[in-house]
Amino acid sequence: MVEGTPHRETQRRVSILGSTGSVGTSTIDLIAREPDRFAVEALVGGANAALLAEQAKTLGASFAAIADETAWPVLRDALAGTGIEAAAGRDAVLEAARRPADWTMGSIVGAAGLAPTLEAVRRGGIVALANKEALVCAGDLFTEEAERAGCRILPVDSEHNAIYQVFDDARREGIDRIILTASGGPFRTLSLDDMARKSPAEAVAHPNWSMGVKISIDSATMMNKGLELIEAHHLFAMPEARIDVLVHPQSVVHSLVSYVDGSVLAQLGSPDMRTPIAYCLAWPRRMDTPVERLDLAAIGQLDFSAPDIRRFPCLGLARQALRAGGDAAPVLNGANEAAVEAFVAGRIGFTDIASVVAETLDRCPVEPVTDLEGVFAADAKGRRVAEDVIAGFGGLSIAHVGAAN
Ligand SMILES: NC(=O)c1ccc[n+]([C@@H]2O[C@H](COP(=O)([O-])OP(=O)(O)OC[C@H]3O[C@@H](n4cnc5c(N)ncnc54)[C@H](OP(=O)(O)O)[C@@H]3O)[C@@H](O)[C@H]2O)c1
Repeated sequence: MVEGTPHRETQRRVSILGSTGSVGTSTIDLIAREPDRFAVEALVGGANAALLAEQAKTLGASFAAIADETAWPVLRDALAGTGIEAAAGRDAVLEAARRPADWTMGSIVGAAGLAPTLEAVRRGGIVALANKEALVCAGDLFTEEAERAGCRILPVDSEHNAIYQVFDDARREGIDRIILTASGGPFRTLSLDDMARKSPAEAVAHPNWSMGVKISIDSATMMNKGLELIEAHHLFAMPEARIDVLVHPQSVVHSLVSYVDGSVLAQLGSPDMRTPIAYCLAWPRRMDTPVERLDLAAIGQLDFSAPDIRRFPCLGLARQALRAGGDAAPVLNGANEAAVEAFVAGRIGFTDIASVVAETLDRCPVEPVTDLEGVFAADAKGRRVAEDVIAGFGGLSIAHVGAAN
């Protein structure tokens, strides 16, 4: 587990990379409730300049950066005369991540978050990590950078945050396995034929969580759980064979740690990202949140079952990539991002996402990765090969994917 600098009992200076997204706005909701406790250094958005400017003004941020350069005029005009510095483009995003802050939320979506999140990691302090794709792609290189910089990584993903809360790192020889829970997404009970007909709007409609488009679709394919499995491997230094997945449709038990004496410790709560975000914001203390309190008597029953790898092959593909090592995880991630974009654009069907990722992995022999350039190259290769697969797509059978696992 990545250790870091000790906590300081002063006002926390925070930056949010991806402030305009689902995790970003939840983070701002909590910060705005305790304005004396937090000062905002930098905010980063992708393309939504109007919301970014409004957030920067409300929170009195020092710096606002927008990744999309075409959105610059909107940001510039909205912040004119406020004294808030602003800039646009990739370098501006990296500059925001480098600015002095005690605490940074890494909540940019996708591999686009890797470079800025790493800038924040290199600066040290605390990085609350929501951007799982950064860890999936860079893996050990990412955690080594954190250790070198004395940066403490706090997991924001509700599952990893739950594990972090019940994982006895000082006596890890007593830990047998970790168990990630999965809601199963909106298509949990559907046949493959029914899933194949589902639209992007139906895939995004998650039963329990309100999230961004990409992670919602990843939840529907269960690639999200596959990415989380790789994330858990790196965060908790657990081998793939000792990480289990358990389907739990109510999303109340956020994950579990199983000990060698038979004890199983879990963290529970209402499905609201403000709980794990608050844990990270206040760490090592706790802070109040407006999250609905868990009423187990009202819920009455919690259900659990094993995942069905045949209907949700992405989970098996992620395990396959983690076992393969080398550049397989960034290739898997790049291929998945390309496939999800193609699905959202109506170019492929829902079940084709897994087929595209499987075929991309088949076409890319595993190569070693020794540096970050190698990670970016693997990400680009995964996208490029996936685009080739999509372009020549003749309706690969999902059975082809199932057979690979
Ligand atoms: N949502 C959840 O409940 C949840 C839970 C656990 C983990 N996560 C993880 O947290 C991350 C964010 O998820 P989300 O649901 O918050 O996604 P989201 O709602 O789509 O937000 C993504 C954020 O990234 C920004 N962005 C996109 N491309 C960018 C780029 N090239 N450079 C800089 N910023 C860019 C977006 O800006 P614009 O909107 O301005 O374009 C937005 O602020 C993902 O990795 C996800 O897997 C999310």
